[in-house]
Formats: sequence, structure tokens, C-alpha cells
Amino acid sequence: MAKSQGASTLETIDRLRVPAHVAIIMDGNGRWAASRSLPRSAGHRAGREAIRRTIEGCRRLGIRVLTLYLFSTENWRRPADEVDALMALLHESLIQEAEELHRSGIRLRVCGDVEAMPPEIRGLIAQVETLTRENQAMVLNIALNYGGRAEIVRAARRIAAEVAAGRRSLEAIDEAAVAAGLYTADLPDPDLVIRTGREQRLSNFLLWQAAYAELYFADVFWPDFEQEHLFTAVAEYQRRQRRFGGTPDG
Ligand code: IPE
Ligand code: IPE
Ligand code: MG
Repeated sequence: MAKSQGASTLETIDRLRVPAHVAIIMDGNGRWAASRSLPRSAGHRAGREAIRRTIEGCRRLGIRVLTLYLFSTENWRRPADEVDALMALLHESLIQEAEELHRSGIRLRVCGDVEAMPPEIRGLIAQVETLTRENQAMVLNIALNYGGRAEIVRAARRIAAEVAAGRRSLEAIDEAAVAAGLYTADLPDPDLVIRTGREQRLSNFLLWQAAYAELYFADVFWPDFEQEHLFTAVAEYQRRQRRFGGTPDG
């Protein structure tokens, strides 16, 4: 995409009204690769470059939280060689990107069932989380082994355990209690959910948190996602009227 075009969309964005939290369903790596007669793993590798560009684009916009859907609880259903390639790519990326994330003032955190991830990956995540713990510029929230339904079940179990132990009454089960049991307890809800890859579905992503998110579908496979697409999505977000069930005047 032409640079001048990118610059012009960026200029139309009101910096005071950028979404606080952008969440992205990065879909289409496999089809991007297939359209080039490449193995699916090549699509995932190309997707890594799109992740780099997107993180930088979010930093340029001053977005506070970026959530990236990296691997779902259902993605284990894929052929073992693809799962292995994804885990190897994640392993390599955590090692290679840690310093750059830190230099950019980004704090890494993970949302998902990390306990079920391979131990080396768990260890690397813990290292990068510790390294970047104090960083303030942006939160990079990686949805890894993440499923929205599993997350809500986990929150329900925690609440049930509190009730069973007599630490919480039935009346004290409210939306705040559920939200506090989610992986995202310390984050604001996403304002804008972007999906690439030409599908228009949530695929078990942030089911609770995205209740009032604006949805934006980018008509490209994830490896082709450029900063310009992000800026276009944010510009579109700023033209939407959010009502949260109220009237146009609030
Ligand atoms: C997204 O791309 C990456 C992951 C889900 C890990 P896909 O691998 O789903 O690519 P398509 O949707 O099959 O093209
Ligand atoms: C969603 O993409 C998961 C991630 C982007 C990690 P999928 O490719 O798994 O979703 P479906 O199967 O098309 O719904
Ligand atoms: Mg897909």
C-alpha cells in the first residue's frame, strides 16, 4: 500500500478518541500460504511480520491495550505438524522479540490456559512478563490457548468455590464478580474487535468482554494486514456511534 495513503488516513484520526483496547482475530494465514502454493507454516511466519507492523501501528496511535488472538483452545484440533510449527514459531518469537518489546516500553501479558502450554514456552512467557513488567507505553495481551467459553467456565468455578467455602453469598454473584474471574480482569473491555481473513464470526474470542465492542472486518488475509488497514479500522471506529443500549443522546 502506498505510503502517502497511509499518512493521510493516519492524519484523519482523532488522537484523543482512539480506542483504549483493540483486539484482533488474526485469521487467514493458511489461505494466504495456499494461494502462493506454500505450506501453511509459511503463512504463520508471514503473519509474524504483520504482528510486528500492527504493534508498531498501535504504538503510533497511542493505543493502550492490544490483544492478539494467537492460538485458540480449538486450534489443537489441527494436524500435529501445524501445531508444532506454530509452537516453534512462538518459541522463536518470544526469544527474538523480547528485547525489542522491552525497548518499546511494551508490557507483555497472556490471556488463556498457559498451564497447558509446553513447559519451555511457559518459561519464556514468564521471563518476558518479568522483563517487561514495569513498562507503561502499551499492554500487549496475547490470547494463547484461549477460548471464551472455557474462560467463563473457569470464572464460574472460582465463584462456585467461593460460595461453597462460605466466602461469597449467592446475592454477591454479579457481573463484576464474573469479570473479576476472567483472564482480562485487569484490562478494560475491548472497544474495537478487528477480524481479518474474510470470515465474519467471533470464533470463541472474548465472548464476555466484547459485549459492546465495535466489530470491523478487514478484507485481507492476516499476512497482508498493513498499518493502513489498522488506521482505516480506527478511522471507521471513530465514525461509529456507540450507544451501549441507550439512546443516541446518552
Ligand atoms: C490464523 O490463520 C492463525 C491461527 C489460527 C493460528 P489460519 O491458520 O486460521 O488460516 P486460515 O484461516 O486457515 O486461512
Ligand atoms: C480464530 O481463527 C483463532 C485465531 C485467530 C487464533 P480460526 O481459524 O481458528 O477460526 P475458525 O475455525 O475459522 O472459526
Ligand atoms: Mg482460520
